[in-house]
Amino acid sequence: MSKKNHPTSEGSRKLWGGRFKAATDPTVERFSASIHFDQALARYDIRGSIAHARMLGRTALIPAADADALVAGLEQIARQIEAGEFPFDPALEDIHMNIEARLTEAVGPVAGRLHTGRSRNDQVATDLALYLRDACGAAQRGILDLRAVLVERASEHIDTVLPGYTHLQRAQPVRLAHHWLAFFELLGRDAQRFADASTRLMECPLGSGAIAGSTLPLDRGDTAAALGFDAPTRNSMDSVSARDGALEVMAAAAICMVGLSRLAEELVIWSTSEFGFVELADAYSTGSSLMPQKKNPDVPELVRGKTGRVVGNLVSLLTTLKGLPMTYNRDMQEDKEPLFDSMATLSDSLEVMAGSVATLTVNVDRMAAAAQDPMLLATDLAEALVREGVPFREAHETVGRIVAHCVEGGHDLAELSRETLQGFHKAFTAGSGDLLELEGSFAQRDLPGGTARVRVAEALDAARAEIEATHAQLDGDPGP
Ligand code: ARG
Repeated sequence: MSKKNHPTSEGSRKLWGGRFKAATDPTVERFSASIHFDQALARYDIRGSIAHARMLGRTALIPAADADALVAGLEQIARQIEAGEFPFDPALEDIHMNIEARLTEAVGPVAGRLHTGRSRNDQVATDLALYLRDACGAAQRGILDLRAVLVERASEHIDTVLPGYTHLQRAQPVRLAHHWLAFFELLGRDAQRFADASTRLMECPLGSGAIAGSTLPLDRGDTAAALGFDAPTRNSMDSVSARDGALEVMAAAAICMVGLSRLAEELVIWSTSEFGFVELADAYSTGSSLMPQKKNPDVPELVRGKTGRVVGNLVSLLTTLKGLPMTYNRDMQEDKEPLFDSMATLSDSLEVMAGSVATLTVNVDRMAAAAQDPMLLATDLAEALVREGVPFREAHETVGRIVAHCVEGGHDLAELSRETLQGFHKAFTAGSGDLLELEGSFAQRDLPGGTARVRVAEALDAARAEIEATHAQLDGDPGP
């Protein structure tokens, strides 16, 4: 090749510049660069490169001394990135090229040996798997912290009663502990989803090359083990094209956010003057710039609002992937921003929800007063008839007529005499004062999963044990 056919100085800076004669259009450079977001993968990228370099040395694909020089250079770059001193360069496209170019500056031409038997396609897939495993661990920890707060607050409120709602209409009385333990259960399944997604991120893509592996005798088992994977992936094409791991984690994040959003919505409603069930702490609310009396529940509102983003991020990546033929396509670079955004948003949301719940004040009297509404025990009245042998449908109909009688005549459901009740159904054995008693009503709801005090106390014990066990498990897991 004659000298004048060589790439321009701009073009030759690219690590793939060999076949190019002209420089990349500046707009294209900006358009295709991912360094401003994929720098979040730096430490995974370096770990992958260190494992790869060591393997190249061990298999004698490169001289041992070169492998050592590569590892030392990469470790130096890792420190530089950690210290925030790394000059990320958009002209070098992405994190992989930025690190390799910097390595060349640090260790000289030997850096050219690092990419032996490797492509950015298996490299980025490996980085992502490592990132996702870390992110799953972080999500599980964040969820655990919120669950621990819910159990703590629930423990304080085993004897606080409030109406449980369906259709946001008062339905039946429940203990506040029971109510918050409902979110404890929901969040437990969220944590399981992240743990489960991790189990499908245990195979290492490294060694799959661009698409079809390598002619070089790489030791894929060695790099897989060094990076904490169980084994190498089993199909090189799948390895470089799969992004379902990211989808799963983003789906788990979206589902978790939807749960948080429901808890958040409830805090918004509960802190209205109309409900007055809770007051958020000053540290977790904000004021109005105009109305001096306002104390706004911005934190739960934002959790609710950001849920839209996290759901959107999932839809965004699903849509990006749906038309892609095997195997790697550059479209896949679009996986990172929504993924990183979802995980950061989830992590923040879990933290602020834990803080909000931990610091809010419960207005026990407002809750109790609302739960005193005798109408909430109408079902109990029907069940009293069932205990006398009346078919449930007939009992339901009877109590419906009694409720209508109370509403129309302004009578108190809790103060109907036995005679009055018997006017509606002969099977009534007592007045509603005896039949509708809140404590008795709670005590009777002692089926597994029920809101009777003994059941809720048991549930709290189980929840505390689960928190402790999960703590031990997550602390014992060294992560990727
Ligand atoms: N920045 C790219 C991405 O995130 C890395 C892989 C690029 N591979 C390639 N052959 N262009 O997907």
